[in-house]
Amino acid sequence: MNEIIEKIRAEFLQDSKAIKSLKDLEPFRVKFLGRKGLISSAFDRMGELPKEERPLFGKALNELKKELEAQYQELLNRFKRAEEKGHRLDLTLPGRKPFAGGRHPLLKVADEIKDIFRGLGFSIEDGPEIENDFYNFEALNIPKTHPARDMQDTLYITDDILLRTHTSPVQIRVMKRQKPPIQMIAPGRVYRRDTPDASHSPFFHQVEGLVVDEGITFADLKGVIQAFAHRMFGKDVKVRFRPSFFPFTEPSAEYDFSCVFCGGKGCRVCKNTGWMEISGAGMVHPNVFKAAGVDPEKYTGYAFGMGIDRIAMIKYAIDDIRIFFENDVRFLNQF
Ligand code: PHE
Repeated sequence: MNEIIEKIRAEFLQDSKAIKSLKDLEPFRVKFLGRKGLISSAFDRMGELPKEERPLFGKALNELKKELEAQYQELLNRFKRAEEKGHRLDLTLPGRKPFAGGRHPLLKVADEIKDIFRGLGFSIEDGPEIENDFYNFEALNIPKTHPARDMQDTLYITDDILLRTHTSPVQIRVMKRQKPPIQMIAPGRVYRRDTPDASHSPFFHQVEGLVVDEGITFADLKGVIQAFAHRMFGKDVKVRFRPSFFPFTEPSAEYDFSCVFCGGKGCRVCKNTGWMEISGAGMVHPNVFKAAGVDPEKYTGYAFGMGIDRIAMIKYAIDDIRIFFENDVRFLNQF
């Protein structure tokens, strides 16, 4: 008696697992709960039982019927809801992965620059973004009254404390704490009083480079910049140096890379010059060595700057620096 009940229940459970959609449900209902279904037939066969067992069996069968009807109703509701949402309920589908975020394109480029210089034997140094006048200007051979202060529009906190306008103060900090030989880069954020436009932002990012030892020459500087250009943008990139002026280097230069978009032929991006300005460089001025406690009679050195935002703009063909700082996910998701 109980065997019949258990058999029907087990089969019901088994079949219910195979149901994938609303249309599988109807034959399933007919098989168990229909007028000629398994429950009905069991009722029909009750007459075969001895008289005294019939009431108990009838009661058990009725309970089973209620139980299966309730379960059927639940399945029906579930599939109806799923179908309304336009989804088929497929419990074997993998779950949705949460969006884990990614690295900002500027960080990725900074990492790439660091890797290249690490590979060339440079250490990576750091300095504060809130600097004092001495490190940002004075020690870099830019006295208070020097017109070169106008080259960089400074954001002052007090007369003496300011947001650094370049990463060059890290040169002084490193020379003060470490004896030559020095071979370092210092990536970081810098600030200038500027109205934002496609090529200006009140803050941006630089990498400072400094090499100090006995017998360092301008040729070493050119070799390192050349090696960097090749590793960053490929072997076809040419480098050129133009005479320039910085108070903290003598001689000073600005350096350009041949345009990576037109290969130097001239295009919209390089304004038909075939060249892209990268930054400044030069041989460390003796006054800078003196301010940092390095003997200029014994040592020579070179320094260079590099704009991380600029390199990223070239690498990803971006024509507006502001897009880096707007944190628009449609932009960021592409990296
Ligand atoms: N500090 C300079 C700037 O911000 C760049 C530079 C660095 C030039 C080192 C020469 C040497 O423009």
